[in-house]
Amino acid sequence: MAEHKERWGSRVGLVLAMAGNAVGLGNFLRFPAQAVQNGGGAFIIPYLVSFLLMGIPLLWIEWAIGRHGGKYGHHSAPGMMDVIGKGNWWKYIGVFGIFTNLTVAAYYTYLESWTLAYVWHSITGAFSGMTSIEVANFFLEYVDAADGSWFNFPSSALFWFGITLALNLWILSRGLSKGVEIASKIGMPLLIMFGIFLAIRTLTLDAGEQGAVNDALVGLNFLWEPQFDSLTNPSVWMAAAGQIFFTLSVGMGSIHCYAAYVQENDDIALNAASAGWMNEFVEVILGGSIVVPIATAYLGLDWVQDNVGLAMGFRTMPTLFQNWGPFLAGVAGVAWFGLLFFAGITSSLAMGQPVMAFMQDEYKLSRGQSARMFGLFMLILSLWTVFFYGYGAFGEFDDWSGTFALVVFALFEAIAFAWVFGMEKGWAEITRGADIEVPYVFKYVIKYVTPLFLLVVFVGALIAPAGGDWSGALSGLFAGEGWNFSAGSIVGKLWHVGYADKRWFVDGSPTPVFIVDATRSLLLLVFVVIALAVRHAWKRNQHTY
Ligand code: PHE
Repeated sequence: MAEHKERWGSRVGLVLAMAGNAVGLGNFLRFPAQAVQNGGGAFIIPYLVSFLLMGIPLLWIEWAIGRHGGKYGHHSAPGMMDVIGKGNWWKYIGVFGIFTNLTVAAYYTYLESWTLAYVWHSITGAFSGMTSIEVANFFLEYVDAADGSWFNFPSSALFWFGITLALNLWILSRGLSKGVEIASKIGMPLLIMFGIFLAIRTLTLDAGEQGAVNDALVGLNFLWEPQFDSLTNPSVWMAAAGQIFFTLSVGMGSIHCYAAYVQENDDIALNAASAGWMNEFVEVILGGSIVVPIATAYLGLDWVQDNVGLAMGFRTMPTLFQNWGPFLAGVAGVAWFGLLFFAGITSSLAMGQPVMAFMQDEYKLSRGQSARMFGLFMLILSLWTVFFYGYGAFGEFDDWSGTFALVVFALFEAIAFAWVFGMEKGWAEITRGADIEVPYVFKYVIKYVTPLFLLVVFVGALIAPAGGDWSGALSGLFAGEGWNFSAGSIVGKLWHVGYADKRWFVDGSPTPVFIVDATRSLLLLVFVVIALAVRHAWKRNQHTY
């Protein structure tokens, strides 16, 4: 069986792939929604602070852990954590680095498939002549809306999902430099071009022009005007930190994997910073200048605040583009959904690679065999989110894998890196071969500030109070009234806070609570199976460092 010894073809390719990893649907759909839901300009300060104190340090930590692991032939997190940790159990922390990639890829690829479908519909002009209600409802062909019938068969969704998955598997099976790297070299420039085109078109939109009620700048202003009182609101901090996690792809094990294909003495310090800043440029400049300003121009800020969410990009944008006339509407549709598709696929490939690498490294499977196995796992997990979307399965994947697991893994890896591996060795690892001088203060930030920051985020996620009202909850606690967990906190989720009826079956039909619990059990099972696979692999392969 071929030894798994792949390399990046070029530095440009590596940085584009890493930027493609980070730049994803999160930048264009999640960021605007999070920013609006957390008060627009109120969000931006905690967001930037989280980027500097948590995001950038984690990028350096992950690139360093990855390149170091690669030296020992490990391209996925279990082996890497085994190398830097002391004691046998660190490899099981590394299980997160497989689990999260696999389970996030499962729902992310489904989302990505909507963008491909919508590129097609924009090319064929499907949206022209539809009313806004028809466009909005069209989306229901892609998501099972749980309209009362227990089991729907969403054939369009399955068709486009199948194509998207096949495309991902094909690219992955071509190997790193011939697959992922080429896809990034094509996808990233196109994405940026489409983004700049849409942002310029948006920002030059004046009130009164083509039905716009506001200048697009009204929306932009809402996003960017800093509001200092938000600094004391922990809920806004939690949301900002969560967005930094998701958008930079940290806490996943995905950056580690790409970095493992970097040579021991090649730069990682500048590469990590470049990819990170590129992501921020795309997120705040391009991501912030499309959906929210366009929707605000045509529908007003109040409407946007009431309706913002991931789905707005699909349910509303095609209608708004129609204001630009049939030709430009088609072009804008292709640009918008094309941009989303390229953003999505360069990210889903980054989630697939670590899973593939694990099978190649530890089970000596070939690329083709790994791709087929990965495809099989994906099929099972993705179809679960497709069929039970309306019952909350998709949301459960996003909450546990796409949000909570990231924080847990990041907390452990930051401690492992700075305190177990040791900050002296860690700093040497980050700066070896560096093409920039990494500011020395980050040695202390990484050692003290980042782990503490992560700990606070972790505890916050665990016990967030109802309504996000921390000061009210604390005074209530001291007044002996106990603590009301929010439905979104981890404890609140485990207790099913917010579900009036907690029964699994009503009149013989499963309820959303049943699907939610079944989904959690499925995720737990996936984690356990991966842990067993790690154990089994370590028994077979004698790893010595
Ligand atoms: N960062 C990607 C986004 O913004 C998501 C992602 C997470 C990709 C983890 C790879 C790994 O959409």
